[in-house]
Amino acid sequence: MPNDDADAAWSALMALARRPGARAIRPLFAADPERAARCTHGAGDVLLDLSRSAVSEDVLAALLRLARATDVAGFRDRMLGGAVVNPTEGRAALHAAQRGGGDAAVQATLARMQDFCGAVHGGALRGATGARFTDVVNIGIGGSDLGPAMVARALWTPAAPMRAHYLANVDAHAWEELRARLDPARTLVLVASKTFTTQETMTNAALVRAWLVAALGEAGTTHLAALSTNLTAAAGFGIPAERVFGFADTVGGRFSLWSAIGLSLALALGWSAFAALLAGARAMDEHFAAAPPAASLPLLLALTELWHVNGLGYPARAVLPYDERLARFPAHLQQLEMESLGKAVALDGGMVARATGPVVFGEPGTNAQHSFMQLIHQGPVPVPVDVILVANPDHAHADSHRKLLANGLAQAEALLVGKSLAEVRAEMAGADAARIAAIAPHRVFTGDRPSNVILIPRLTAGTLGQLVALYEHKVACLGALWGINPFDQWGVELGKVLAGGTLAALEGRAAAKQAATAASVAAILRLQGAP
Ligand code: F6P
Repeated sequence: MPNDDADAAWSALMALARRPGARAIRPLFAADPERAARCTHGAGDVLLDLSRSAVSEDVLAALLRLARATDVAGFRDRMLGGAVVNPTEGRAALHAAQRGGGDAAVQATLARMQDFCGAVHGGALRGATGARFTDVVNIGIGGSDLGPAMVARALWTPAAPMRAHYLANVDAHAWEELRARLDPARTLVLVASKTFTTQETMTNAALVRAWLVAALGEAGTTHLAALSTNLTAAAGFGIPAERVFGFADTVGGRFSLWSAIGLSLALALGWSAFAALLAGARAMDEHFAAAPPAASLPLLLALTELWHVNGLGYPARAVLPYDERLARFPAHLQQLEMESLGKAVALDGGMVARATGPVVFGEPGTNAQHSFMQLIHQGPVPVPVDVILVANPDHAHADSHRKLLANGLAQAEALLVGKSLAEVRAEMAGADAARIAAIAPHRVFTGDRPSNVILIPRLTAGTLGQLVALYEHKVACLGALWGINPFDQWGVELGKVLAGGTLAALEGRAAAKQAATAASVAAILRLQGAP
């Protein structure tokens, strides 16, 4: 449906992007001593500093105009209100409703999860030999793995009630490595799959069930529980209803860690930590629902990204959490953002007129500085960066933590201020003139490279919940701004279907149809010693 207001808002925005100096950030600081404060926005425990981007007052006004014209607020309200905002799958997107609130089915599942945790932790529910459960294995992939695995990595401490392990890849090396660390008598296994049909998960579930039965006899199957929307398939796998934890199909996989898919977290971290995670996310939901556009953290983060992608032509973004415990946070965002926003077809079925979701990647700082930051500082195409800082550590090594924070801030500053040729030459003064001429250009940093600095006081279940929900809502805003559906993922289907054919070829049951695939299959079979 044509939207003249949106077309006009896009035109105005792109006109600003074509202005000379549109990428420059340093002049914005020079012109406004209050810029850092003015561009820093808070919600709950999250402080979002957007000052280090080339978003001037008029660019911000144009971005907010686009948000109005594309009715981001209406989309937000429809999403939070349970309307069908995922039309290609005919569904609402009710992940926020999983974080508590009034939904009776959600409350009932949360109560069952809490009781289950209580029984496991209290020893009322034990393994087949009567031993207490000490370890929980979550078998799942994509959204049934990445979110829970990320949170467990972030929040687990040796004082936690159980150890959590995550088995995702159909590569059985992963299972072999994990199995060596587990005692079947003490291991609880959660088969986490929204659909309960995912090849990787069902293959691993069969391997792990066989391991339990080999060690404990048929009674080993009592160590299995299921987290799924497909109650029939879970029952078909032999898991009785009392150990199946359901959730609605309105919860997308990459948004599902708040649902029954988070049971491994409740078991490993304790119920109060899981409840605090949900409460943190709920606080961000409330901010998102109520904050005016110019103060809405998810919307401002989304608009900054849109400016980078569409206005300035930056096709990627790096995520650098300066906290080792957030090592899996970039991996979670990769799925959340790229599976949601990697779309070229608009809601009306036509092709989108412009670029959409950027490539997202990342590593914890400072490790990232010693790997890909070279390209971000000096590569020809700027890559905006999210620098995530945690003010207070949960260890007593203040010196290490100061160095960690100093590095994070220094990266943002280096990207912003750069280093000119004149500065490099001055630094090299006294060296041989030919050497200065040859080397100096290599030591120049252009500067004016953007970063967002996100600061939380401490990494807790509550602050992590806020942080994850911030990015979830940013994704929803970008879906509305770009006119794409952020809640489907048709792009994962074709490979899954074709894998059936390639499996048949590798098993010698059918010839591969495509010539290159057939050649690769033949080469593999030769290397495997086939006659
Ligand atoms: O392959 C993509 C995907 O469909 C994701 O969207 C999802 O999170 C993942 O597979 C796992 O799906 P399931 O939970 O149904 O096993």
